[in-house]
Amino acid sequence: MRTRPLKVALLGCGVVGSEVARIMTTHADDLAARIGAPVELAGVAVRRPDRVREGVDPALVTTDAAALARREDIDVVIEVIGGIEPARKLITSAFEHGASVVTANKALLAEDGPTLHEAAEKHGNDLYYEAAVAAAIPLVRPLRESLAGDKVNRILGIVNGTTNFILDRMDSTGAGYGEALDEATALGYAEADPTADVEGFDAAAKAAILAGIAFHTRVRLDDVHREGLTEITAADIASAKRMGCTVKLLAICERAADGRSVTARVHPAMIPLSHPLANVREAYNAVFVESDAAGQLMFYGPGAGGAPTASAVLGDLVAACRNKLNGSRGPGESAYAQLPVSPMGEVVTRYHISLDVADKPGVLAQVATTFAEHGVSIDTVRQQGKDGDAWLVVVTHSAPDAALSSTVEALRGLDTVRGVASIMRVEGE
Ligand code: HSE
Repeated sequence: MRTRPLKVALLGCGVVGSEVARIMTTHADDLAARIGAPVELAGVAVRRPDRVREGVDPALVTTDAAALARREDIDVVIEVIGGIEPARKLITSAFEHGASVVTANKALLAEDGPTLHEAAEKHGNDLYYEAAVAAAIPLVRPLRESLAGDKVNRILGIVNGTTNFILDRMDSTGAGYGEALDEATALGYAEADPTADVEGFDAAAKAAILAGIAFHTRVRLDDVHREGLTEITAADIASAKRMGCTVKLLAICERAADGRSVTARVHPAMIPLSHPLANVREAYNAVFVESDAAGQLMFYGPGAGGAPTASAVLGDLVAACRNKLNGSRGPGESAYAQLPVSPMGEVVTRYHISLDVADKPGVLAQVATTFAEHGVSIDTVRQQGKDGDAWLVVVTHSAPDAALSSTVEALRGLDTVRGVASIMRVEGE
């Protein structure tokens, strides 16, 4: 084993960074044996230097992240600050000064991954980011490496633990969205400002990263259709139950049937209780991958938290260090396919629509005609009386999302339709 250590700079020492530092210390001997050289924490950049960080030598702490990232003696920079800037500048500077980078920064990768990949390539360094998607669950490496010889056609996943917790509580207790969010906040699953999770931004960034790797195509956050779960009601969940379904916030990345384009989207959807994703409870994550040769694969585990995210960071650190030692490089960006990313309107899906209608002759015919006029075929219709009016629950066959949403608009305009109580896509069948 080489005795001269590989030097690591840690940018950020919050929930994840402090776990990374702890594991680097407690597992130092094993890490050295696995890498073939000791790894030494050479600097830790923080915003608040006065805060006590157990296990971190105060002499290593600095507030000058920029100076740490450009130190010529650093072999690997770990970026766990998050956000776009200064993370982007720090990472590109690290590459320019000879370091490989391990990052957990999903927002930056989804916004501007190509800049990071190009900087890594230009300077002959590695960019690893297993922790950016679903923390400890191995997804990036399986897609980038294990499935590199296969053809991935679809990814269907629960990639946000906060929203899965909220939906799970709504399903198991009958609680409304607000009550379930309050519980998620009290238990520390939801942040004080839960927007990134509940509006689907976090899941959309992960979908962009997964789609990019799976389809060898650059997919950015703006390419991902995004709907959050703030409008989901207890009635939606009850309606799903009546259909033998549950509601999940899904990230779905698909290759079109003709193989010429891809789509990426995040939205709530009903899935049958028989689908394995329906049993992913509490704040767990799970991702289904469908490929030509492997068939269906499912990856399951904790998708957030200090230690699970640090586990993924450490795995990447070992890989980056091994490459440094061998003078080799890990996989770079693979975007050769350059498939166009189609808009949501072209996605083929199914709708579950609850209508509040007048209960009188011809209503069903009028509603059915509206579907037919938009080329949407009905799968099932269920009617339930309601004080002289009725609830009409229609589930469609598969159709382009544009046709389905224009059907809903036309239904809203019918005299006999008092309101569209809920619309939800049905997936996973
Ligand atoms: N806030 C995310 C979640 C974890 O709830 O899954 C970090 O991406």
